Amino acid sequence: MARCFVTRELPGGAIERLRAEHEVEVWSERLPPSPDELRARTRAAEGLLCLLTDRVDRELIGAAADLRVISNYAVGSDNVDLDAAAERGIPVGITPDVLTEATADMAFALLLAAARRVVEADAEARRGEWVTWEPARLLGRDVHGRTLGIVGHGRIGRAMAHRARGFDMDVVHSSRSGGVPLETLLESSDFVSIHLPLTPATRGLIGEPELRRMRPWAVLVNTARGAIVDTAALVRALREGWIGAAGVDVMEPEPPPADHPLLAAPNLTIAPHIASATHAARERMADLAVDNLLAGLAGRPLPAAAQSG
Ligand code: DGY
Repeated sequence: MARCFVTRELPGGAIERLRAEHEVEVWSERLPPSPDELRARTRAAEGLLCLLTDRVDRELIGAAADLRVISNYAVGSDNVDLDAAAERGIPVGITPDVLTEATADMAFALLLAAARRVVEADAEARRGEWVTWEPARLLGRDVHGRTLGIVGHGRIGRAMAHRARGFDMDVVHSSRSGGVPLETLLESSDFVSIHLPLTPATRGLIGEPELRRMRPWAVLVNTARGAIVDTAALVRALREGWIGAAGVDVMEPEPPPADHPLLAAPNLTIAPHIASATHAARERMADLAVDNLLAGLAGRPLPAAAQSG
């Protein structure tokens, strides 16, 4: 029996499977453990199952002498210092595939909501401003037949492309392994959706020069990580009309403080990092995260391991 620390309650029955084999402590608060609390509990653990809100840095990994496996409840692993884990021979698990379709659904939902001003329309109707049918009120942008540029061509990017084809959209992509240059994609797309991991190379990838290249009516969608887009530049792009609108599920930082400038930007649809939040996806993520933890504790290869470097 190994000692495991799980940093939050998870949907479904996966934690019970873990309890059947190991000694498990679950952090049961709504808010994450503080860095000190996380360090104190991880110090005594052999298995850590953490969330993207937990910063698993070199110091934490270094202080956890017995730690044998880290399982991140996310497909992204930017909250974990992969190099520090690799140096200690600690495998890091992630949850790819099981959230692909749910995340692409949400990216497409944000695309549609931003293009057709769904949130604004809902608010107007509730405020009693639906006084008659008006020819030129709440006009949005066509989605069908337009061009979608997908930045990144992994599983979620490809699932997004699949949805776009159902809307008769032309799809272009830009990635390290092919597609068109990012500049070409930005200049030729009506919608730009980001599907990349956050790495040193992608941090700030979409900044002022990139936003200025986009069409003035274009919609930017980000369901990846907030830090891939330069926040200050995006605020200016929306205020000054370099682009038409944006739909974001992720921000930098998360959660945003009440005075975060993006919260007051026009033509912006925001969701609080819920792209994978369907019952099925989050339960499958929990299953895979537990499978990763069990495999690591048993000294077996993880079903889904993050790659460092
Ligand atoms: C992830 O898995 O990295 C998402 O951001 C949350 O599901």
